[in-house]
Amino acid sequence: MDSNTSEEAKRYLELAREYGTPLYVYDAHIIREQVQLFRKAFEPLPVRIFYAAKALTNLSVLKLMRHLGLGLDTVSPAEIQMGRMAGFTPEEMLFTPNMVAFEEIREAFDMGITINIENLSNLEKLGRAYGSEAKCFIRISPGFITEKESPERQEWQKRSKFGIPLSQWQEMKQIVHRYGITVVGLHMHASHVVMEPELFRRGAAILFGLASEFPGLCYLDFGGGYNIPGRHDAPETDLSVLGNILRQLYSENREHGLSPEIWFEPGRYLVARAGTLLVTTRIVKEKNGVLMAGTDSGFNHLLRPMLYGAWHDIDNLSHPGGRPVLTDVYGNLCEQDPFATDREIPEIREGDVLALRDAGGYGFMMSSQYNSRYRPAEVMLINGEDYLIRRRETLDDLTRNQIIADIPSGF
Ligand code: LLP
Repeated sequence: MDSNTSEEAKRYLELAREYGTPLYVYDAHIIREQVQLFRKAFEPLPVRIFYAAKALTNLSVLKLMRHLGLGLDTVSPAEIQMGRMAGFTPEEMLFTPNMVAFEEIREAFDMGITINIENLSNLEKLGRAYGSEAKCFIRISPGFITEKESPERQEWQKRSKFGIPLSQWQEMKQIVHRYGITVVGLHMHASHVVMEPELFRRGAAILFGLASEFPGLCYLDFGGGYNIPGRHDAPETDLSVLGNILRQLYSENREHGLSPEIWFEPGRYLVARAGTLLVTTRIVKEKNGVLMAGTDSGFNHLLRPMLYGAWHDIDNLSHPGGRPVLTDVYGNLCEQDPFATDREIPEIREGDVLALRDAGGYGFMMSSQYNSRYRPAEVMLINGEDYLIRRRETLDDLTRNQIIADIPSGF
């Protein structure tokens, strides 16, 4: 460990003592750094970044994002409300839901929020409801995975439930013309699973190519899905390569009079690195030749390893100099809940505090109350100061909405 990391380890151990574990810690400086990296990669294009709230909706994080000059990409009415609570105006928000009832779209549209339509059913309903007053983005499924790609990828594309496929393009345009809907932007989102420069280029070229079909179009939105460095489930996205791709497409298209604003919706890229889940090891045991460390957490607090086989680095903060040993790291759920298998980690002792890294994106957000364990507290570090931004849950949170049924005596 260099001195910076040991300083950080000391600070995180203090936080673990002060607030208890499991604990989510978010470093605001890293979030700011990620925002700067993202912006820099696409300079000097006219870019607007909408933070994908779903990655981490803590109100203080949303407020920080607004402070850093970002807009907000939302997917549910409650995310919109939380955006409002954090200070975002409707003009600064985008609503990009999937498969939702038209009422949700109507609610957002009536608030003046930019809406993104991803199926013909809601496009038709939008036209019927607002006629020529209707304005929206269209999310297309550009179909950039060709027959040359693996059968798994083709299947992935076929089953992807998102967006309007190009095969429905004419039908989509008929609806647009029938009602006089203004298509202000086109949208695509290449999930982090297929976020590769060549696929991104194909998708982006398709978007630029289609843009000229809509006279009122001002924006192209390239969604999220940008991967951070590290040994993750998908390779790091080289944003500078994506920047080059877009700069080139942009200058080619400008010659033909097309110069839309470029929008992005990164989520995990902005918050993952900033977040660490601190857990305490309660039990160390050996079984069938496997060394196991059981922590006070589990997939109820960080689901990604179980759900996606995602890799999260694990540091032993309280015993960094220990002899590296292959260890299985678990939680305390009454179910197999590995964070890591056969991971080389400095020897873990009972009481050691471990840091699960890159946990800021979809960490707390996909947490649950499984096994009736409380969700962790969340702390944000700004200029070295720690701010408690969510209290740990209590029994009250587990039972708050429950109503004990009267069981009839004769039952
Ligand atoms: N825009 C749209 C339309 C999306 O569907 C998503 C994510 C994003 C933006 C933000 O994607 P990001 O930059 O955060 O990858 N739970 C998973 C990720 C699911 C992403 C769903 N859509 C995980 O833990 O990696």
